[in-house]
Amino acid sequence: MSKIIKVNLKKNSYNIYIGTDILKNIGDFHKKYFMNRSKIVIYDEILYNSIYFKKLIKSLGKNTNSIPIKSGEKSKSQKSLNKLYDNLFSNQVDRNSVIYAFGGGVIGDLAGFAAATYMRGIDYVQLPTTLLSQIDSSVGGKTAINSSFGKNLIGAFYQPKLVLIDINTLDSLPKKQMLSGYAEMIKYGLINNKKFFLWLEKNGKNILNKDKKDLEYAIYICCKSKANIVKQDEKEKGQRALLNLGHTFGHSFERIANFKRFSHGEAIALGIILAFKFSFELKLCKIEDFNRVYKHFIDVKLPREINHLFKMKIKAEDIIALMKLDKKTVDRAIKLILVRGIGNAFISNRVNDKKLSLFLKNNGFD
Ligand SMILES: NC(=O)c1ccc[n+]([C@@H]2O[C@H](COP(=O)([O-])OP(=O)(O)OC[C@H]3O[C@@H](n4cnc5c(N)ncnc54)[C@H](O)[C@@H]3O)[C@@H](O)[C@H]2O)c1
Ligand SMILES: [Zn+2]
Repeated sequence: MSKIIKVNLKKNSYNIYIGTDILKNIGDFHKKYFMNRSKIVIYDEILYNSIYFKKLIKSLGKNTNSIPIKSGEKSKSQKSLNKLYDNLFSNQVDRNSVIYAFGGGVIGDLAGFAAATYMRGIDYVQLPTTLLSQIDSSVGGKTAINSSFGKNLIGAFYQPKLVLIDINTLDSLPKKQMLSGYAEMIKYGLINNKKFFLWLEKNGKNILNKDKKDLEYAIYICCKSKANIVKQDEKEKGQRALLNLGHTFGHSFERIANFKRFSHGEAIALGIILAFKFSFELKLCKIEDFNRVYKHFIDVKLPREINHLFKMKIKAEDIIALMKLDKKTVDRAIKLILVRGIGNAFISNRVNDKKLSLFLKNNGFD
């Protein structure tokens, strides 16, 4: 089982491989793409005792050096980045070396940014191990760490040389993390692929139950969709922003909760529901569309109401203030991804604060 997608970005083009036999063949991939260049693995420490890590090192060669990174969002910090640079220097990583980023989006973003900046940039490969990173963060070359002023504020667009997705790494992924990735998966259907949303309505439970055949198909569709969007708009000057459906809302929930309590995907899920409902209230889409999305979220048990994320009351004005801090905000005007229906999202550049505030207050906010 395996599939290949080419991300067409002229001299920054690269391939994505999706399958179940990837890790044990990494040595062959390395030879094919990088010949005898030296390599180093930067990995999420949670994977150290896993069968995947053993397979990876066995295939790359027992003398392959590796650097562990602590699990969790906190590792996307200036402190861990500095420590990582030091580790790269002491491991004698040079401009000809290749970094393998082995873990979820946290490792991919951190190692990718280190690769972008270490000695003015060295080659790296994404080896994503969470559903979210396999369908989203490993593709497209956005790399970043967080600042105390907000998430992903220090970063670079820096494309990997290769993305290798071994679906078997999902075997150990906790249910909560599967669901978090699944919220992003639905997003691809909702922005521009209604047929895929209809497929997910039927097969979404198989994805959450880790059916390999369905996972391979769905990951393929998502990566293809992302590759397509990135090809047209590598640096997010336009259409790439559609991928942020649910995210301007979602990021503000994550900030309020200080990135604890619920996963990124759960925050995004509620954000998507709000984007659909707000679109309906602005008479942009039909109530049937909203109801259909809402029903699927019930079926797969994704959050749909603010009290699914927070026990305390959340102020509409606090949400709006946080939305204005979003990277996409220009001149303090909130930019939202709204919908004209399922599979038909668009960028709304100037959302009216008053309408948004009223909408939030009518939907469980204070
Ligand atoms: N660069 C991009 O375009 C982009 C896009 C979306 C999200 N992101 C970033 O990605 C991050 C979220 O990614 P994520 O959800 O993968 O988070 P993550 O890397 O923190 O992984 C989630 C959890 O799963 C664990 N884990 C990883 N692989 C595992 C496995 N195979 N088995 C068991 N546990 C495993 C991790 O230790 C962690 O606890 C955020 O920082 C977000 O900003 C980046
Ligand atoms: Zn996301």
